[in-house]
Amino acid sequence: MITEEIKKRAGQIDEILAGYLPREEGQQSIVIEAMNYSVRAGGKRLRPMLMQETYRLFGGKSRVIEPFMAAMEMIHTYSLVHDDLPAMDNDEYRRGQKTTHAVYGEAMGILAGDGLLNYAFETALTAFDLEPENPGIVRALKLLAGKAGIYGMIGGQTVDVAYSGKPLTEEQLDFIYRLKTGALLEASMVIGAVLAGATRNEQAAVEAAATELGLAFQIQDDILDVTSTQEVLGKPIGSDAKNQKTTYVSWKGIDQARAEVERLSQRAVSRINQLVVRNEFLTELMLYLIHREK
Ligand code: IPE
Ligand code: IPE
Ligand code: MG
Ligand code: MG
Ligand code: MG
Repeated sequence: MITEEIKKRAGQIDEILAGYLPREEGQQSIVIEAMNYSVRAGGKRLRPMLMQETYRLFGGKSRVIEPFMAAMEMIHTYSLVHDDLPAMDNDEYRRGQKTTHAVYGEAMGILAGDGLLNYAFETALTAFDLEPENPGIVRALKLLAGKAGIYGMIGGQTVDVAYSGKPLTEEQLDFIYRLKTGALLEASMVIGAVLAGATRNEQAAVEAAATELGLAFQIQDDILDVTSTQEVLGKPIGSDAKNQKTTYVSWKGIDQARAEVERLSQRAVSRINQLVVRNEFLTELMLYLIHREK
C-alpha cells in the first residue's frame, strides 16, 4: 500500500533530520529548543520525500542528497513558523501541537524561524564535505536560495499578506500559489534531479511538473481548510476565512476547485511519465499528496 510506504519513508526522513538538528545547548539554547520543537512536530515530510525520489529517479545513489533533504524541511518549517505568527495568519495549532510562538512567545517564534532558515544553509553546505567533486552542489544551493527568497516563497507570502481582505485577479492568485507553495516544491524536485546529474531538459520537465503539483497542492490545502477538521489536519480550519483570504475555493467554489486539482495533478504526473526513466513510487506519491486528507 502506498500509504504504508509513505509512512515508512517519512520515518526514515525523520531519522535523517534528527541527525542534522542542532544540539540544545549554550546560552542561546532556548531558540534551538524552539527550532527543534517545530521540526520534530512532524508533518508529512513531503518535500524531502519528493527530493529523494527525484534523486533516485535519475539514478542518484549517495548520501549527498541528505543534507539537502534536511535543509529543505528546515526552510519549509521556518515558513510555517512565520506563517502562523500573530502578524501573519495568527494560528495557534500546527502539526497537531501548539504553534511555536504560542509555546515560546512571539520573539522566539521569529528567531526560531530565522534560525531555521540560516541553519538550513549551514546544513546544505555540508554536502561539500560528502562529495566535494559533485558539480551539482553549487547549482542545488542556488536553487535552494532562490526558490526560498523574494522570487520564490517569500515573494508569494508577500503578495498573499498584502492582498488579505482585498479582491484578487486570477493572475495574482496564480502568482501567489506558484510562489508561496510551488517554489519550494520546484526546488525540492529539481535539486534531486540536479544532484543526480539529470540533463537540463530533464530538469525543465521536472520543474514544470513540480509547478503543477504545487498549484494542485495549495488548492487542496484551501479545500481542506473548508472541509476538514482540526483533529485530522493538525492545524485550525477556517484560517483563510478568518484572515479574509481570497482562495481558489472562495473564488470558484469547491466543485471547480476539486476539478482543478484533478486536472493539474494529471498533467503533473503525465509529465513525469514522459521521462525516459520511471519511478512508480514517485508518481503514486504525487497523486497521493494531491488527494490527501491532511
Ligand atoms: C503546509 O504544507 C503549507 C502549504 C504550503 C500548504 P504541508 O501540508 O506540507 O505541511 P506539513 O509539512 O505536512 O505540516
Ligand atoms: C502558506 O499557505 C504557505 C507557506 C508558504 C507557509 P497557508 O497559510 O494556506 O498554509 P497553512 O494552511 O497555514 O499551512
Ligand atoms: Mg498563510
Ligand atoms: Mg497559514
Ligand atoms: Mg492553508
